[in-house]
Amino acid sequence: MRAALLFNEPDLIADLEPGMTDEYIHNHINAVEHSLGKIGCEVLRIDINNDIQEMVANIHKSRADVIFNLCESIFGRPEFEMNIVTLLELLKVPYTGAPPLALGLCLNKYNYRFFLKDMGIKCPRAVEIRNPSHFDSVSQLKYPVIVKPLSEDGSTGISEQNIFESPREAKNKLGALLQLYSDGLIAEEYIAGREFNCFLINTKEGTKIFPISEIEFRYPDNRKYNIISYDAKWNIESVEYKSTVHICPADITKAQTGKIFKACSVIFNTIIKKGYARVDFRMDAKNNLYVIDVNPNPDISPDAGAIKQIRAEGWTYTNFVEAMIEDAIEYMKKPVFLFGTEHRKKTPKRGKDYRFAASAAC
Ligand SMILES: Nc1ncnc2c1ncn2[C@@H]1O[C@H](COP(=O)(O)OP(=O)(O)O)[C@@H](O)[C@H]1O
Ligand SMILES: [Mg+2]
Repeated sequence: MRAALLFNEPDLIADLEPGMTDEYIHNHINAVEHSLGKIGCEVLRIDINNDIQEMVANIHKSRADVIFNLCESIFGRPEFEMNIVTLLELLKVPYTGAPPLALGLCLNKYNYRFFLKDMGIKCPRAVEIRNPSHFDSVSQLKYPVIVKPLSEDGSTGISEQNIFESPREAKNKLGALLQLYSDGLIAEEYIAGREFNCFLINTKEGTKIFPISEIEFRYPDNRKYNIISYDAKWNIESVEYKSTVHICPADITKAQTGKIFKACSVIFNTIIKKGYARVDFRMDAKNNLYVIDVNPNPDISPDAGAIKQIRAEGWTYTNFVEAMIEDAIEYMKKPVFLFGTEHRKKTPKRGKDYRFAASAAC
Protein backbone atom coordinates (compact mmCIF):
# COMPACT_ATOMS: atom_id res chain seq x y z
CA MET A 1 0.00 0.00 0.00
CA ARG A 2 1.20 3.54 -0.77
CA ALA A 3 0.70 6.04 2.04
CA ALA A 4 1.33 9.77 1.76
CA LEU A 5 2.08 11.82 4.84
CA LEU A 6 0.45 15.22 4.55
CA PHE A 7 1.82 17.88 6.89
CA ASN A 8 2.42 21.60 7.18
CA GLU A 9 5.89 22.68 6.16
CA PRO A 10 7.88 22.72 9.45
CA ASP A 11 9.47 26.13 8.73
CA LEU A 12 6.04 27.72 8.37
CA ILE A 13 4.83 26.27 11.70
CA ALA A 14 8.03 27.21 13.53
CA ASP A 15 7.65 30.80 12.25
CA LEU A 16 4.05 31.03 13.37
CA GLU A 17 4.20 29.21 16.68
CA PRO A 18 6.92 30.16 19.14
CA GLY A 19 8.33 27.23 21.12
CA MET A 20 7.41 24.71 18.41
CA THR A 21 10.85 23.55 17.29
CA ASP A 22 11.76 21.96 13.95
CA GLU A 23 13.09 19.00 15.90
CA TYR A 24 9.74 18.44 17.59
CA ILE A 25 7.87 18.56 14.29
CA HIS A 26 10.35 16.24 12.57
CA ASN A 27 10.19 13.71 15.44
CA HIS A 28 6.46 13.61 14.96
CA ILE A 29 6.59 13.10 11.20
CA ASN A 30 9.40 10.53 11.56
CA ALA A 31 7.42 8.54 14.13
CA VAL A 32 4.38 8.24 11.86
CA GLU A 33 6.57 7.46 8.85
CA HIS A 34 8.42 4.76 10.78
CA SER A 35 5.16 3.09 11.87
CA LEU A 36 3.70 3.27 8.36
CA GLY A 37 6.85 1.51 7.13
CA LYS A 38 6.47 -1.14 9.82
CA ILE A 39 2.98 -2.02 8.64
CA GLY A 40 4.29 -2.46 5.12
CA CYS A 41 3.42 0.89 3.53
CA GLU A 42 5.54 2.60 0.96
CA VAL A 43 5.65 6.15 2.37
CA LEU A 44 5.87 9.50 0.60
CA ARG A 45 5.88 12.94 2.15
CA ILE A 46 3.76 15.84 0.94
CA ASP A 47 4.31 19.11 2.70
CA ILE A 48 1.74 21.86 2.45
CA ASN A 49 3.24 25.25 1.84
CA ASN A 50 0.16 27.36 1.10
CA ASP A 51 0.10 26.34 -2.55
CA ILE A 52 -3.05 24.25 -2.92
CA GLN A 53 -2.62 23.59 -6.65
CA GLU A 54 0.79 22.16 -5.95
CA MET A 55 -0.57 20.06 -3.07
CA VAL A 56 -3.29 18.56 -5.26
CA ALA A 57 -0.74 17.87 -8.03
CA ASN A 58 1.53 16.15 -5.48
CA ILE A 59 -1.34 14.02 -4.19
CA HIS A 60 -2.14 12.88 -7.73
CA LYS A 61 1.53 12.26 -8.48
CA SER A 62 1.92 10.20 -5.30
CA ARG A 63 -0.84 7.77 -6.36
CA ALA A 64 -1.38 7.28 -2.62
CA ASP A 65 -3.93 4.69 -1.47
CA VAL A 66 -4.28 6.58 1.80
CA ILE A 67 -3.20 9.88 3.32
CA PHE A 68 -1.99 10.16 6.89
CA ASN A 69 -3.25 13.63 7.65
CA LEU A 70 -1.12 15.76 9.97
CA CYS A 71 -2.31 19.06 8.57
CA GLU A 72 -3.02 21.66 11.29
CA SER A 73 -3.97 24.73 9.32
CA ILE A 74 -3.64 26.37 5.95
CA PHE A 75 -2.56 29.94 5.14
CA GLY A 76 -1.78 30.16 8.88
CA ARG A 77 -5.50 29.82 9.63
CA PRO A 78 -6.46 26.86 11.84
CA GLU A 79 -10.14 27.25 10.91
CA PHE A 80 -9.22 26.20 7.36
CA GLU A 81 -7.96 22.81 8.59
CA MET A 82 -11.36 21.35 7.77
CA ASN A 83 -11.07 22.46 4.15
CA ILE A 84 -8.07 20.23 3.54
CA VAL A 85 -10.02 17.11 4.50
CA THR A 86 -13.02 18.33 2.51
CA LEU A 87 -10.71 18.52 -0.47
CA LEU A 88 -9.40 14.99 0.20
CA GLU A 89 -12.99 13.69 0.29
CA LEU A 90 -13.70 15.36 -3.03
CA LEU A 91 -10.53 13.86 -4.47
CA LYS A 92 -11.81 10.50 -3.10
CA VAL A 93 -8.58 9.80 -1.25
CA PRO A 94 -8.93 7.94 2.08
CA TYR A 95 -7.43 10.03 4.90
CA THR A 96 -6.80 9.46 8.59
CA GLY A 97 -8.38 11.43 11.39
CA ALA A 98 -11.52 13.44 11.85
CA PRO A 99 -13.94 14.47 9.08
CA PRO A 100 -14.52 18.11 8.04
CA LEU A 101 -17.65 18.78 10.07
CA ALA A 102 -16.05 17.60 13.32
CA LEU A 103 -12.99 19.78 12.68
CA GLY A 104 -15.09 22.80 11.75
CA LEU A 105 -17.50 22.47 14.64
CA CYS A 106 -14.95 21.84 17.37
CA LEU A 107 -12.48 24.49 16.35
CA ASN A 108 -14.99 27.06 17.50
CA LYS A 109 -15.01 26.66 21.27
CA TYR A 110 -18.46 28.19 21.60
CA ASN A 111 -20.37 26.31 18.90
CA TYR A 112 -20.09 22.69 19.97
CA ARG A 113 -21.31 23.40 23.51
CA PHE A 114 -24.90 23.63 22.17
CA PHE A 115 -24.66 20.00 21.05
CA LEU A 116 -23.16 19.00 24.38
CA LYS A 117 -25.87 20.80 26.31
CA ASP A 118 -28.50 19.02 24.27
CA MET A 119 -26.88 15.70 25.18
CA GLY A 120 -26.91 16.60 28.89
CA ILE A 121 -23.13 17.11 29.11
CA LYS A 122 -21.93 20.01 31.26
CA CYS A 123 -19.56 22.72 30.05
CA PRO A 124 -18.56 25.78 32.11
CA ARG A 125 -20.89 28.75 31.47
CA ALA A 126 -19.49 30.98 28.78
CA VAL A 127 -20.12 33.91 26.46
CA GLU A 128 -18.83 34.49 22.95
CA ILE A 129 -17.11 37.78 22.16
CA ARG A 130 -16.71 38.67 18.50
CA ASN A 131 -16.84 42.45 18.68
CA PRO A 132 -16.86 45.24 21.30
CA SER A 133 -20.67 45.17 21.55
CA HIS A 134 -20.28 41.79 23.28
CA PHE A 135 -17.93 43.08 26.03
CA ASP A 136 -20.75 43.74 28.53
CA SER A 137 -21.91 40.11 28.37
CA VAL A 138 -18.96 39.06 30.55
CA SER A 139 -20.80 40.55 33.55
CA GLN A 140 -23.24 37.59 33.44
CA LEU A 141 -20.53 35.12 34.44
CA LYS A 142 -19.29 33.97 37.84
CA TYR A 143 -15.68 35.03 38.49
CA PRO A 144 -12.83 34.14 38.02
CA VAL A 145 -13.19 33.80 34.26
CA ILE A 146 -10.73 32.51 31.66
CA VAL A 147 -10.73 34.22 28.25
CA LYS A 148 -9.52 32.06 25.35
CA PRO A 149 -9.18 32.59 21.60
CA LEU A 150 -12.35 31.23 19.96
CA SER A 151 -10.75 29.35 17.06
CA GLU A 152 -7.33 28.21 18.16
CA ASP A 153 -6.08 25.07 19.79
CA GLY A 154 -2.95 23.72 21.44
CA SER A 155 -3.33 26.40 24.18
CA THR A 156 -2.40 29.10 21.67
CA GLY A 157 -2.88 32.48 23.33
CA ILE A 158 -3.53 30.94 26.76
CA SER A 159 -1.57 31.89 29.87
CA GLU A 160 -2.33 32.93 33.47
CA GLN A 161 -2.73 36.46 32.06
CA ASN A 162 -6.04 35.33 30.53
CA ILE A 163 -7.67 34.73 33.92
CA PHE A 164 -9.67 37.66 35.28
CA GLU A 165 -11.14 38.15 38.72
CA SER A 166 -13.82 40.76 37.96
CA PRO A 167 -15.92 41.90 34.97
CA ARG A 168 -14.10 45.22 35.11
CA GLU A 169 -10.69 43.62 34.82
CA ALA A 170 -11.93 41.41 31.97
CA LYS A 171 -13.52 44.30 30.06
CA ASN A 172 -10.28 46.30 30.31
CA LYS A 173 -8.33 43.55 28.58
CA LEU A 174 -10.84 42.30 26.01
CA GLY A 175 -10.07 44.99 23.40
CA ALA A 176 -6.38 44.07 23.24
CA LEU A 177 -7.14 40.32 23.15
CA LEU A 178 -9.69 40.80 20.38
CA GLN A 179 -7.10 42.67 18.32
CA LEU A 180 -4.79 39.68 18.60
CA TYR A 181 -7.50 37.08 17.90
CA SER A 182 -9.84 38.78 15.48
CA ASP A 183 -11.96 35.61 14.99
CA GLY A 184 -13.23 36.17 18.49
CA LEU A 185 -12.88 35.06 22.09
CA ILE A 186 -14.73 32.93 24.56
CA ALA A 187 -15.00 34.00 28.19
CA GLU A 188 -15.62 30.96 30.34
CA GLU A 189 -16.15 30.45 34.08
CA TYR A 190 -12.91 29.14 35.56
CA ILE A 191 -13.24 25.66 37.08
CA ALA A 192 -10.71 25.22 39.87
CA GLY A 193 -9.75 21.58 40.34
CA ARG A 194 -8.34 18.50 38.66
CA GLU A 195 -7.88 18.16 34.90
CA PHE A 196 -8.39 14.95 32.91
CA ASN A 197 -7.91 13.92 29.28
CA CYS A 198 -9.64 11.07 27.52
CA PHE A 199 -8.51 9.76 24.12
CA LEU A 200 -10.82 7.87 21.75
CA ILE A 201 -10.54 6.32 18.32
CA ASN A 202 -12.95 4.83 15.83
CA THR A 203 -12.45 1.17 14.93
CA LYS A 204 -14.43 -1.42 12.97
CA GLU A 205 -15.62 -2.82 16.30
CA GLY A 206 -16.85 0.59 17.45
CA THR A 207 -15.44 3.41 19.56
CA LYS A 208 -12.36 2.52 21.60
CA ILE A 209 -11.64 4.56 24.73
CA PHE A 210 -8.17 4.52 26.27
CA PRO A 211 -7.32 4.90 29.97
CA ILE A 212 -7.92 8.41 31.30
CA SER A 213 -4.94 10.57 32.21
CA GLU A 214 -4.72 13.36 34.74
CA ILE A 215 -2.52 16.39 34.37
CA GLU A 216 -0.99 17.04 37.76
CA PHE A 217 0.04 20.60 38.48
CA ARG A 218 3.31 20.56 40.40
CA TYR A 219 4.29 24.23 40.31
CA PRO A 220 7.08 24.85 42.82
CA ASP A 221 5.58 28.27 43.63
CA ASN A 222 2.05 26.93 44.34
CA ARG A 223 0.08 29.04 41.88
CA LYS A 224 -3.35 30.46 42.44
CA TYR A 225 -4.57 29.21 39.05
CA ASN A 226 -3.47 25.91 37.57
CA ILE A 227 -3.80 25.73 33.81
CA ILE A 228 -2.07 24.17 30.83
CA SER A 229 -0.81 27.32 29.20
CA TYR A 230 0.96 27.47 25.82
CA ASP A 231 4.33 27.17 27.57
CA ALA A 232 3.10 24.21 29.65
CA LYS A 233 2.16 22.42 26.44
CA TRP A 234 5.03 23.26 24.10
CA ASN A 235 7.93 25.12 25.67
CA ILE A 236 10.09 22.30 27.04
CA GLU A 237 12.47 24.70 28.79
CA SER A 238 9.72 26.45 30.77
CA VAL A 239 8.76 25.91 34.44
CA GLU A 240 5.19 25.42 33.21
CA TYR A 241 6.19 22.49 30.96
CA LYS A 242 8.26 20.88 33.71
CA SER A 243 5.51 21.37 36.32
CA THR A 244 2.61 19.78 34.42
CA VAL A 245 2.85 16.02 34.56
CA HIS A 246 0.63 13.45 32.82
CA ILE A 247 -0.37 10.58 35.08
CA CYS A 248 -1.95 7.66 33.24
CA PRO A 249 -4.06 5.88 34.27
CA ALA A 250 -5.50 8.63 36.47
CA ASP A 251 -6.27 7.86 40.08
CA ILE A 252 -10.05 8.31 39.99
CA THR A 253 -13.04 6.34 41.17
CA LYS A 254 -14.95 3.87 39.00
CA ALA A 255 -17.97 6.15 39.10
CA GLN A 256 -15.98 9.16 37.85
CA THR A 257 -14.34 7.03 35.16
CA GLY A 258 -17.78 5.83 34.07
CA LYS A 259 -19.06 9.42 33.78
CA ILE A 260 -16.06 10.50 31.70
CA PHE A 261 -16.31 7.46 29.42
CA LYS A 262 -20.04 7.97 28.92
CA ALA A 263 -19.72 11.67 28.04
CA CYS A 264 -16.78 10.96 25.72
CA SER A 265 -18.47 8.18 23.80
CA VAL A 266 -21.62 10.27 23.33
CA ILE A 267 -19.50 13.18 22.04
CA PHE A 268 -17.43 10.92 19.77
CA ASN A 269 -20.42 9.13 18.30
CA THR A 270 -22.43 12.25 17.64
CA ILE A 271 -19.94 14.86 16.52
CA ILE A 272 -16.61 13.18 15.69
CA LYS A 273 -17.48 9.71 14.31
CA LYS A 274 -14.20 9.03 12.51
CA GLY A 275 -10.50 9.03 13.35
CA TYR A 276 -9.33 10.08 16.78
CA ALA A 277 -10.16 12.74 19.34
CA ARG A 278 -9.31 13.88 22.86
CA VAL A 279 -11.82 15.33 25.30
CA ASP A 280 -10.54 17.47 28.19
CA PHE A 281 -12.36 17.79 31.52
CA ARG A 282 -12.06 19.77 34.73
CA MET A 283 -13.56 18.49 37.97
CA ASP A 284 -14.61 20.98 40.64
CA ALA A 285 -14.42 20.61 44.43
CA LYS A 286 -17.83 18.91 44.46
CA ASN A 287 -16.68 16.35 41.87
CA ASN A 288 -18.81 17.87 39.10
CA LEU A 289 -17.23 17.16 35.73
CA TYR A 290 -17.15 19.80 32.97
CA VAL A 291 -15.99 19.40 29.39
CA ILE A 292 -13.59 22.26 28.65
CA ASP A 293 -12.34 21.17 25.22
CA VAL A 294 -13.19 18.73 22.43
CA ASN A 295 -10.22 18.08 20.16
CA PRO A 296 -10.65 16.13 16.92
CA ASN A 297 -7.14 15.33 15.57
CA PRO A 298 -5.28 16.23 18.77
CA ASP A 299 -1.51 16.09 19.11
CA ILE A 300 -0.29 12.54 18.41
CA SER A 301 3.44 13.19 18.49
CA PRO A 302 5.31 10.38 20.29
CA ASP A 303 5.49 12.38 23.58
CA ALA A 304 1.86 13.56 23.51
CA GLY A 305 -0.57 12.77 26.31
CA ALA A 306 -2.75 10.80 23.87
CA ILE A 307 0.13 8.44 23.10
CA LYS A 308 0.80 7.93 26.83
CA GLN A 309 -2.84 6.87 27.05
CA ILE A 310 -2.62 4.32 24.25
CA ARG A 311 0.57 2.90 25.77
CA ALA A 312 -1.19 2.52 29.13
CA GLU A 313 -3.57 0.15 27.31
CA GLY A 314 -0.62 -1.90 26.01
CA TRP A 315 -0.80 -0.48 22.46
CA THR A 316 2.27 0.59 20.51
CA TYR A 317 2.47 3.69 18.34
CA THR A 318 2.36 1.39 15.32
CA ASN A 319 -0.85 -0.29 16.56
CA PHE A 320 -2.43 3.17 16.65
CA VAL A 321 -1.16 4.19 13.19
CA GLU A 322 -2.41 0.89 11.73
CA ALA A 323 -5.84 1.30 13.33
CA MET A 324 -6.15 4.79 11.84
CA ILE A 325 -5.16 3.57 8.37
CA GLU A 326 -7.86 0.86 8.60
CA ASP A 327 -10.38 3.47 9.72
CA ALA A 328 -9.46 5.72 6.78
CA ILE A 329 -9.90 2.95 4.24
CA GLU A 330 -13.18 1.80 5.80
CA TYR A 331 -14.63 5.34 5.70
CA MET A 332 -13.98 5.72 1.98
CA LYS A 333 -15.43 2.29 1.20
CA LYS A 334 -18.87 3.86 0.95
CA PRO A 335 -19.63 3.80 -2.77
CA VAL A 336 -19.11 6.96 -4.76
CA PHE A 337 -21.42 7.44 -7.76
CA LEU A 338 -20.61 9.63 -10.68
CA PHE A 339 -24.21 10.60 -11.39
CA GLY A 340 -25.82 10.83 -7.95
CA THR A 341 -26.62 8.04 -5.52
CA GLU A 342 -28.63 4.91 -6.28
CA HIS A 343 -31.24 6.29 -3.94
CA ARG A 344 -31.51 9.49 -5.98
CA LYS A 345 -31.88 7.50 -9.19
CA LYS A 346 -34.92 5.73 -7.78
CA THR A 347 -36.70 8.88 -6.58
CA PRO A 348 -38.96 10.66 -9.06
CA LYS A 349 -37.65 13.70 -10.90
CA ARG A 350 -38.23 17.02 -9.17
CA GLY A 351 -41.64 18.34 -10.18
CA LYS A 352 -44.94 19.42 -8.75
CA ASP A 353 -45.13 16.50 -6.27
CA TYR A 354 -41.66 17.16 -4.99
CA ARG A 355 -42.38 20.84 -4.28
CA PHE A 356 -45.66 19.97 -2.62
CA ALA A 357 -43.90 17.50 -0.30
CA ALA A 358 -41.34 20.14 0.67
CA SER A 359 -43.91 22.80 1.47
CA ALA A 360 -46.07 20.33 3.42
CA ALA A 361 -43.06 19.40 5.53
CA CYS A 362 -42.47 23.06 6.48
N1 LIG B 1 -13.05 26.81 32.08
C1 LIG B 1 -11.81 26.49 32.45
N2 LIG B 1 -11.52 26.33 33.76
C2 LIG B 1 -10.25 26.04 34.16
N3 LIG B 1 -9.22 25.90 33.33
C3 LIG B 1 -9.45 26.02 32.02
C4 LIG B 1 -10.76 26.33 31.51
N4 LIG B 1 -10.67 26.42 30.19
C5 LIG B 1 -9.38 26.17 29.86
N5 LIG B 1 -8.65 25.95 30.96
C6 LIG B 1 -7.21 25.65 31.00
O1 LIG B 1 -6.58 26.11 29.82
C7 LIG B 1 -6.07 24.99 29.06
C8 LIG B 1 -6.26 25.24 27.57
O2 LIG B 1 -7.64 25.48 27.30
P1 LIG B 1 -8.42 24.72 26.15
O3 LIG B 1 -9.81 25.19 26.17
O4 LIG B 1 -8.20 23.26 26.30
O5 LIG B 1 -7.70 25.28 24.87
P2 LIG B 1 -6.94 24.59 23.66
O6 LIG B 1 -7.98 24.19 22.69
O7 LIG B 1 -6.09 25.68 23.11
O8 LIG B 1 -6.20 23.41 24.22
C9 LIG B 1 -6.81 23.79 29.59
O9 LIG B 1 -6.09 22.59 29.39
C10 LIG B 1 -6.98 24.14 31.07
O10 LIG B 1 -5.81 23.89 31.81
MG1 LIG C 1 -7.22 21.75 25.22
